[in-house]
Amino acid sequence: MRHGSLHGEIDLNAVTFLSPVTEEIKLVEERMRSQADEHHPDLRAALEHLLAAGGKRVRPTLSLLVGNMLGAPLEKLVNLGAAVELLHTATLVHDDLIDGSLLRRGTPTLNARWSPPATVLTGDFLFARAAKLAADTDHLPLMKLFSETLATIVNGELTQMFISHGLINRENYYKRIYAKTASLFEMTSRAAAMVSPAGEETIESMRDFGYQIGMAFQIVDDILDFNGDQNAVGKPLGSDLLNGLVTLPAIYFAEINPNDVDVLSLPQGGWTNNENMTRLVEKIRSSSCTKKAMVEAEQHVDRALARLEVFEPCAERDALENLAKYIVDRKV
Ligand code: IPE
Ligand code: IPE
Ligand code: MG
Ligand code: MG
Repeated sequence: MRHGSLHGEIDLNAVTFLSPVTEEIKLVEERMRSQADEHHPDLRAALEHLLAAGGKRVRPTLSLLVGNMLGAPLEKLVNLGAAVELLHTATLVHDDLIDGSLLRRGTPTLNARWSPPATVLTGDFLFARAAKLAADTDHLPLMKLFSETLATIVNGELTQMFISHGLINRENYYKRIYAKTASLFEMTSRAAAMVSPAGEETIESMRDFGYQIGMAFQIVDDILDFNGDQNAVGKPLGSDLLNGLVTLPAIYFAEINPNDVDVLSLPQGGWTNNENMTRLVEKIRSSSCTKKAMVEAEQHVDRALARLEVFEPCAERDALENLAKYIVDRKV
């Protein structure tokens, strides 16, 4: 299976965690693709463009692995996986418009080609179809959880926009990454357990598993913004600071170098100065701060792995273990 153009250089079959669900991921993709049938041709084209660009499909993989391990019906897992991946895609469509990003998954973003109104409406359409897919699980608590998670994500994005610019604050950072990323991982693995016969304790374990890998996932995304290979990642790097986002590597740098001139400028709006921020990115890149951030991501992965210990060894458990480890090893 090859995904996307630049992403196409990465053979996702090589990613071991996918193996037990390779066929089922195809069902999820078909379910997503069918969501624009009978709608405006531009919506169909947009959805086709977004799906063809690929993506790692980490979230539906998580739902399938957790659900299969716990004996959930496949039909519900396919709807859940498609709902979660479409929700994720919709947030990216809006995120790229907000950030003015022109590249995603190695291909031009919708906002690179379309007007802002058309991009906003396409994102809205994807949100609507995601909600419909969540409803197709016929599981009311899951639908409630789904809509609460969407509210958490949007609230997090608004907080980031209004209060977090240039802010050097750990608590704010952890809250932000929970809202924008970990909440969706948490919801995905919790919901997959909820539609299975598993009891409360197991659902709680899976919720925490999703939470922990979600926190690790965003910390690693923030590290890759400093030291990733743009060709592999397929989106513009070095852009968080330029967007006023002070992420974990930058927070470590600020804690170690509180009197650095660029650090001091951040809360005063210094992040709007391209030249100074490019210099700060370089300083952070050549410091030990991305490594320190990685240690935190690894701690989250360790907590996630501990949650798997209670389950009998099986292909899905092994794959979940690989998925958790992949999150900190990934270059994409
Ligand atoms: C990107 O998510 C947005 C973040 C939450 C960091 P992914 O890295 O999962 O993006 P795709 O779906 O593989 O492109
Ligand atoms: C985006 O996080 C997460 C969303 C919920 C939209 P980022 O802003 O870090 O994602 P990238 O780096 O653009 O993929
Ligand atoms: Mg972004
Ligand atoms: Mg990012």
